[in-house]
Amino acid sequence: MNFGLRIAGKRNPDEPVALRNRPHGPAGGFGGLQLNMSKHHESVLAKEILQYLNLREGGLIVDGTLGNGGHAELILKNTAPGLRVLGIDRDKQAIERAGERLAPFRNRVTLVHGNFGDIKNILKKADVMNVDGLLLDLGVSSPQLDSAERGFSFMRNGPLDMRMDSTQKTTAADLIVKLSDEELALVIKEYGEERYAKWIVRAIRKAQEQNPITTTLQLSNIISGVTHTPRPAKIHPATRTFQALRIAVNDELEHIKSALNDSIEILRASARIMVISFHSLEDRIVKNFFKDEEKGCICPPRLPMCACGHKARLKIITRRPITPASEEVQRNPRASSSKLRVAERVYV
Ligand SMILES: C[S@@+](CC[C@H](N)C(=O)[O-])C[C@H]1O[C@@H](n2cnc3c(N)ncnc32)[C@H](O)[C@@H]1O
Repeated sequence: MNFGLRIAGKRNPDEPVALRNRPHGPAGGFGGLQLNMSKHHESVLAKEILQYLNLREGGLIVDGTLGNGGHAELILKNTAPGLRVLGIDRDKQAIERAGERLAPFRNRVTLVHGNFGDIKNILKKADVMNVDGLLLDLGVSSPQLDSAERGFSFMRNGPLDMRMDSTQKTTAADLIVKLSDEELALVIKEYGEERYAKWIVRAIRKAQEQNPITTTLQLSNIISGVTHTPRPAKIHPATRTFQALRIAVNDELEHIKSALNDSIEILRASARIMVISFHSLEDRIVKNFFKDEEKGCICPPRLPMCACGHKARLKIITRRPITPASEEVQRNPRASSSKLRVAERVYV
């Protein structure tokens, strides 16, 4: 059901490249955080998004992570009819839900089932050269986490799936089978910052000798058997492994890097890019990208004059990441690890 909203097609989905580039840091992780069983998703840092987006009367904002359409609705409600939103999500169900929610704004909205890592092509197909803002609210939505059949949750039994885009071929269950022991341990260690990665892989392989691992609870129970600690843990033992597999299945970090690189080409002068991240792997990529793009000349200091010709392309608006107020975290615990970074396109 799309209520007359334009829903564009998508190209073939990307398959995960679990080990193409290793991440550089720890993951705080909310990969398996449990939330209320509902189709509701409370938009994180909503007030701050409106405050920093620097909205104009008209123009086009791209919401690269449309989800339930919460941020998009907020933007549309708070702007004049001249402003339009192009919403992208790799999850078809999200596009449908957002379509219903944004129906009152149908003349101002275009919805695309696609990947924000492919943003340049998506805009090209929509005949758009430049945009006036780009919002990325990374990770998964509450409806995705809460639906047992999507396989993101270690608390709800379902198929070991974890694909944000259900048209993609490789699921988490497939990945466990396809990767070698070393590759799987590396994924769990790097994307989950899990120190028991090798032991977990050993236990997975032992369990696979008896039965294939096809469900979330099967995997969760195997991990719980390995990471048994004398003191009660702050997080469920499967949290880190589930986060790692989710990142690998959806190749999340590579798509973030692509979208950031492409943002330089698509943002108009003074247009802003705003990224909400939920763990340090994501946040570090955003922080370093903004820092690198803010630099002018990058020649070694010993050179008498600039030979690189490098110019700053972004100005950082939030020197420190914006975090949610305590009331927001109390109301919506999922917001607790969120960090918003904002930068503005400059042409010098
Ligand atoms: C945290 S939710 C966004 C919630 C939304 N901002 C709201 O207020 O309702 C993240 C959404 O981004 C989508 N997503 C994650 N990575 C994506 C990617 N590379 N391309 C497109 N969508 C992506 C997920 O499917 C999910 O629906």
